[in-house]
Amino acid sequence: MMMMTVPFADAIPGHATEPAQGAAWGKVILLGEHAVVYGRTAVAAAIDRQVSVRLTPRPGSARVALPEDAPRVVLSLPGGIESDPRLLRALARAAELFRVPLDDVEIEISSDLPSSVGLGSSAALSVSLVRALATWTGSSLEDNAVCAHAFDVERIFHGFPSGIDNTVATYGGLVAFRRGHQTRRLTAPRPLPLVIALGRAARNTGTVVRSLRERWTATPDRYEALFDIIGHIAASGERAISTGDIETLGSLMFHNHAVLRRLGVSTEELDELVDLARRNGALGAKLTGGGGGGAVICLCERGRAELIAAFSKGGWTAFSTDVGAVARLGRRRSPTGTHVHLHGHSRVEP
Ligand code: MEV
Repeated sequence: MMMMTVPFADAIPGHATEPAQGAAWGKVILLGEHAVVYGRTAVAAAIDRQVSVRLTPRPGSARVALPEDAPRVVLSLPGGIESDPRLLRALARAAELFRVPLDDVEIEISSDLPSSVGLGSSAALSVSLVRALATWTGSSLEDNAVCAHAFDVERIFHGFPSGIDNTVATYGGLVAFRRGHQTRRLTAPRPLPLVIALGRAARNTGTVVRSLRERWTATPDRYEALFDIIGHIAASGERAISTGDIETLGSLMFHNHAVLRRLGVSTEELDELVDLARRNGALGAKLTGGGGGGAVICLCERGRAELIAAFSKGGWTAFSTDVGAVARLGRRRSPTGTHVHLHGHSRVEP
């Protein structure tokens, strides 16, 4: 999908009188993170965890101060996000895109998606914020415009994103993404059964992407060769997914993790999680997202409960999810209890 700046001529600046809400899914990268920043294809899927943003008019309500030049807002945040100063800059950027003065707006962020573990919480927040602001300003934005604005906001969180996270957060489903190309929607004959285990170490995708860029700048040939290998793995993975060959998909995931180690983006803890998954019968496992800590995804034909128990015995949190079951995600109950509809139909090839 081409990322573009969409002029926002039809925005109606000012105060809404009704609350406005937006929501977006989290994601896993099945194959291809980091190499996707350098133009290779990656395969990613939405997971059934989401971030939602609710904007409520609150004239004259108590406020918390933002950094000097930013507007003032009331924030009601889930644990973890509020300590991140980039959040406040992202809110200010989104408000600027929509020419919405944030005075007298209460912004409530709810999430059942773990943050800062590579599951796309910043992209999901960016998309949901854009959707809420679009509703707030009475603008009907198509998904491609939502995605483009969210990309702009997402850059505040991690400097040099490929665009894969905001694409999956916007459209949902299972996709093959390559920078500057039309995103292709993939269909698996049956859902891919995953266990997601969360590492304990604090991490930040932007920092990992930046430090890999420094290494790539110093020895580009070495890293380009590794990115090529990852690109081939992702292409083989696409074929395995479309034919339902999950054994092959699993071994590609192990292989991908080994190459990510060579890129220097894994950690001892992530390697330990992958090994634990292998020992407990997972068909495949790898870090997902930026690495440097964060989450590991495990593909499991059987024994998901046992694998989750094994992670838990080691002191880690893990949960199961199915991805790629349907090409289009429909209505579901948002964590705040309001029905939301995430469009998954436009500007993505069937
Ligand atoms: C982050 O979820 C995936 C990375 O490839 C960065 C990006 O594509 O923006 C590490």
